[in-house]
Amino acid sequence: MYKIAIMPGDGTGPEVTREAVKVLKAVSEKEGFKYEGIEYDFGGDRYLKTGEILPDSAINELKGFDAILLGAVGHPDVKPGILEKGLLLKLRFSLEQYINLRPVKLYPGVWTPIKDKGPEHIDFVVVRENNEGLYVGEGEFKNKGTKDEIALQVSRNTRKGVERCVRFAFEYTKKRNRRKQLTLCGKTNVLTYAWDLWERTFNEVAKEYSDIKTDYTHVDATCMWMIKNPEWFDVIVTDNMFGDIITDLGAMIQGGMGIAAGGNLNPEGVSMFEPIGGSAPKYTGKNVINPLAAICAAQMMLDMLGEEKAADRIEKSVMKVTGEKLKSLAAGKMGYSTSEVGDLVIKYL
Ligand code: IPM
Ligand code: MN
Repeated sequence: MYKIAIMPGDGTGPEVTREAVKVLKAVSEKEGFKYEGIEYDFGGDRYLKTGEILPDSAINELKGFDAILLGAVGHPDVKPGILEKGLLLKLRFSLEQYINLRPVKLYPGVWTPIKDKGPEHIDFVVVRENNEGLYVGEGEFKNKGTKDEIALQVSRNTRKGVERCVRFAFEYTKKRNRRKQLTLCGKTNVLTYAWDLWERTFNEVAKEYSDIKTDYTHVDATCMWMIKNPEWFDVIVTDNMFGDIITDLGAMIQGGMGIAAGGNLNPEGVSMFEPIGGSAPKYTGKNVINPLAAICAAQMMLDMLGEEKAADRIEKSVMKVTGEKLKSLAAGKMGYSTSEVGDLVIKYL
């Protein structure tokens, strides 16, 4: 019996989460596993009503779950940054979800903006460090408001934090068992403290994985190759900020925010799965948003929980739906409503 915390969140979050839960229920019946879903209403609406974002008591409660399924965070009436920091980043940090795993896989029938590239070219995974770097929020203003103002924003990289991320990436590359190639994406030519530590750690850990090919690309060049030769990549490991940026690029080449999902992993604790896209306020309540990213997040969750067959069923079904049914992955242009897309995925399970 899995205990799953369900956090639909803001905007279209509840609509897409509903479909993901629908698929979860259907696949659990087919594969014969049981779960208990407990819903939490954290998000913009609750914050506006109560002033509460994510109390510490909730974090302790969440530690007792097997996984968290998150819809979307972001509310048009809440100043940008408050919910992102107070909810999403707080969950990632306080539950020590130190990996952000983001597959970039082009499914059949999905349009990619890259000319002459198809599913055989776009299939790699980004392992993004999720607890450190520029996201720690360290820094200060000096002479604030004066013409001599300086703003410092610190990127904190610890040996332990980098090493556990790099180790995860090597293990993941091994388990994925494709081209067995792990690329370190950084900026050793300019950020000479942070990336010196990353590179040294990467090279040391690499010695334990003689069967895995390693290489290094600067982050700017990574963006270039992701467009020009995405087939060069198998697994990419990078820091929090670069990972944030290159995975939006990745999401676009795999068909957009309608399909891109990610997992915030604490391999020793509670992991959280989410569609990469935001709360899309303008589509809220219209039954037009694409739920596939949320469904793929549930698929990643099941894979992590060890329900690989169930995860596989969902992925194959999603591929059938993209390959044979949907006209587009964009909101309002799918040829089906949000709930109909959920129904289709269930039909092909
Ligand atoms: C993401 C998002 C978040 C991030 C924001 C909402 C804080 O862009 O999950 O990639 O920067 O990590
Ligand atoms: Mn992002």
